[in-house]
Formats: sequence, C-alpha cells, structure tokens
Amino acid sequence: MTSPLKKIVATQVVAGMYVRKIEGNWLDHPFWRGSFLVEPGETLVTLRALGQQGVWIDTSKGLDLASGPVTPSAAPVIETTPEPSPERSDFGDDYAAAEAIRERAKGVAKSLFGEARMGKALSMDAAAEVVDEINEVIARNPAAMLSVVRLKNKDDYTYLHSVAVAALMIALGKRLGYEGEALKEFGVAGLLHDIGKVGISDAVLNKPGRLSPLELATVRQHPQVGWDILSRESAAGPMALDVALHHHEKTDGTGYPHRLSGDALSEVARMGAICDVYDAITSERCYKPGWEPAEAIRRMAEWQEGHFDRRIFHVFVKLIGIYPTGTLVRLASQRLAVVLVQGNGSALNPIVRLICTLPERARLEPETLDLEDSDDRIVAIEDPAHWDLDVPALLRA
Ligand SMILES: [Fe+2]
Ligand SMILES: [Fe+2]
Repeated sequence: MTSPLKKIVATQVVAGMYVRKIEGNWLDHPFWRGSFLVEPGETLVTLRALGQQGVWIDTSKGLDLASGPVTPSAAPVIETTPEPSPERSDFGDDYAAAEAIRERAKGVAKSLFGEARMGKALSMDAAAEVVDEINEVIARNPAAMLSVVRLKNKDDYTYLHSVAVAALMIALGKRLGYEGEALKEFGVAGLLHDIGKVGISDAVLNKPGRLSPLELATVRQHPQVGWDILSRESAAGPMALDVALHHHEKTDGTGYPHRLSGDALSEVARMGAICDVYDAITSERCYKPGWEPAEAIRRMAEWQEGHFDRRIFHVFVKLIGIYPTGTLVRLASQRLAVVLVQGNGSALNPIVRLICTLPERARLEPETLDLEDSDDRIVAIEDPAHWDLDVPALLRA
C-alpha cells in the first residue's frame, strides 16, 4: 500500500487538498495549524505564494495532485475580497495627516495623565475628539496611521503608547467587523487603558532589569487604579473600564489582576491584551530596543497559546502583515525598497516603493511595485540606520 503522504511544491496546491506539513521556518509560512484542509480564498493564495517550498499533503484526507503537470496558470483563479486600499498617490498626504494627528493625540494623552495625577476630572471631550480624528484616518488609510504610531521616542513612551493602542484597537475592531460608535469606544478604551500608571513612579516605570517584589506589586495595581479613575468619569463607558482593568489578563487565567479566563474575559479585553503587548514589544524603551514587527508577531505567535485569543490574534496578524508599512526590505533583484501598504494577495507580497540598487546604492525612480504581480520578492528585512535612511521621509514622499 502506498503512503497517502506526498510531497509537492506550494504552487501545486489547490483547494481541497489536505496539508500535513509545510517545510521551512515560521516566517516563510504564516500558518499555525499543523495540518488543515485547504479552502479557496486567502489561505490558498498565501500558501501558493510560498513558491517552490515543499508541502506535504495527505491524499487519504483530501485531493491528490491531478495527473499531468500542474502549473500555476492551470490552477483556478481565486477571488478574494480585498480591503479597499487608498490611491497610491494619496499615501504621502495621509501619512503627513496621520503624523499631525499623532502629535495632537500625544498632547491630549499627556493632559489626561496630568489630570489623573492631580485627581482632577478627565477632559473626556478632548479624548473623544482626538479619537474621532484617529478613526477618520484609519477609515481612509489604516497603514498610514499604524506606521506613524510605531515610531516613538523613548521619552514620550507612555503617551505615545496610549495613542498607538487607541489606533490599533480601532483598526483591529474594524477588521473584526465593527463600525461606527463601537470603533470610537475601542479608541477611547485604548487611549485610557494605562491611565492607572499615574500611580507608579517614573523610576519604577523606566527601571531597567528586574523589579523588586514590592515594585512589581505596585506595577500590578495599575489596572485597578485605572478602573478607579475611570469609574468616576460617566463619559468613559463600559469598554474603557473593562480594558483598563483587564488588559493584562491572559486566556489561560494566569494574568492579573483577576486571573480571568474563558467567558469571563470579554472580547474587548482580549483585543486590548493583544494591542498592548504588540505595541510594548515593538517600542524602544529606556532599557531595551524595540523588536521589528515581524519578530514581534513571531514571538507573539509562540506565546499565543494561553496568552492571547487565537481568533483575534489571527485577525491582528492579517492587520499588521508580515512586513508592515515602513519596513525596509531587500528584494531578490538586489534593490532596496520600503513597504507602503499590504497588498490584496499574500502577506508575503506587500506593495513597496523602490529606493535604490544594492550594493551601489544607485537611486531608483520612486516607483511603486506590487510584489503580488511581480517576479520580484522580499529576501530580507534591512535596518534603516545601516543604510542611513529616514523611513518617515520616504513614506511622506
Ligand atoms: Fe498596562
Ligand atoms: Fe499598556
């Protein structure tokens, strides 16, 4: 009897096959389940973008390779429902607008924290207004807003982290199918999630290395302190209270302060946990450099069991992409490019803007290239500092 397991290459995969294993490392294939039935749509498109990578199929559980050579062109055309993407020429305008809103929002966050520190009522109107602005840019161009909040200076961390979590919550909520007022509530919840940190001294907040048991206990009080502050604000709303109190809970019940798990943990608290961790680990702090988004997503995927809600995390990964906006990449053609937006196909093939040739660094016309429709592909992530490049300036252009 012949084995039902057969090795083919990724471009030969069709809907209806049962995949047992994909060869290569995690970053090359963003599939978490060990084995699965291939359905038409996005998964199939992403899978086939792996090109000549080996894929083991189980022919006892799904379709076998059709007799005769299967070429990519012989395979069915896959219809996907693309996210509306902005006109490419507008990207620079949206990026500049997003930068201005980030600065305004940072100012509002600073005032809110100042008010909380002094025990004053919070300017909830200002919070709602700036969340509206963030929401508008995200409706037009989520990639622009998410890329500007990623770049933060370590001194402004607390305020910009609040703005970043607000933007991530709105963009994630939108991907989960929410609209209108719900998105604004997610945004306010993100902006205020760490307001309880006003109870922690800067020396403890910025301390490199391990916290003493007493310091750790103080840090772990910030969700409750935040809830106390927000419970005095009638305009804060239930979502903001929930996220402030429960953004450090984990799905397996090992988080704090209430060790919640299962149904006790609301969807918005699960969203908050993911957005908070992602922004914290991709940010540079006084005591650590930030991780690249791709590295952060990879580590979070390792931790997801028990820490994050699996379904929401998968939606989050689709939102951020494997190569988020602003990532500097080297192409197989030995050209340097910056990622502009996620394309409508594979997460491995975003839309990029060309910068220069390597290693000569001959300047290229800033042409926009959709890697999904190109023979070229990303072979490495590059460090902007190494090439002395100002990524925001490249995106603003
Ligand atoms: Fe927190
Ligand atoms: Fe946080």
